[in-house]
Amino acid sequence: MTGWPAEISDFILETFGNDARKAYGQISTVNEKGQPSVRTVHIHCIEHPTQGLLISCNTKSEKWSHLKKNPQIAGCFWNPENQTQVRFEGIADLISEKTSDFSELIQSMWMKMREEVRITYLLDEEGTPLNTKSPKVDPTKHSHNHGLILVTPTLWDVFQNNPKAYRLGKRSIYSLKNNKWDKKQVSSLHEKSI
Ligand SMILES: Cc1cc2nc3c(=O)[nH]c(=O)nc-3n(C[C@H](O)[C@H](O)[C@H](O)COP(=O)(O)O)c2cc1C
Repeated sequence: MTGWPAEISDFILETFGNDARKAYGQISTVNEKGQPSVRTVHIHCIEHPTQGLLISCNTKSEKWSHLKKNPQIAGCFWNPENQTQVRFEGIADLISEKTSDFSELIQSMWMKMREEVRITYLLDEEGTPLNTKSPKVDPTKHSHNHGLILVTPTLWDVFQNNPKAYRLGKRSIYSLKNNKWDKKQVSSLHEKSI
């Protein structure tokens, strides 16, 4: 297991492991014609049983069907609080209720979703119109259409913007080569070493 680059392990946890400050970023998938498709998601991270990024989604969604055919995924998150852009690339594993090894993880991630989102999943699953007034569903009951995208990153690109002087911003790319993380410091303008 390669895990995350040790040097940015704490940073990854601070960025994606804080439920009080949700990390809404964008992930992109590719359809069967090679067309990229991007959308906003809540990006979480986990340490056990593996280190990875985790995204809750509906198994009827486009992203899910893209990833089923092509597990390559990329994402980006801009945190204005610390002026940091985090980009990642990786391979996605799709975890659904059928993947019994992860049933606890699925349930805990389900309960991390906002109640109104859980209700939306459940109404959609039972075919009830979403604009139904006062819908009667139990939001603790897991929807069969809830799944998890587990991203095992193969590249991290961390760009620490310097708000006073753009040219002094720091950008590091960590890429997985022969099961080891290779780090290079690059320009913010392109990927050539500085
Ligand atoms: C702030 C925000 C957060 C969102 N978080 C998620 C999320 O965690 N998971 C998800 O599947 N969709 C999330 N969405 C909805 C997606 O952006 C998207 O509209 C939906 O998942 C359908 O995407 P797809 O058909 O391309 O798969 C979020 C949207 C917004 C605006």
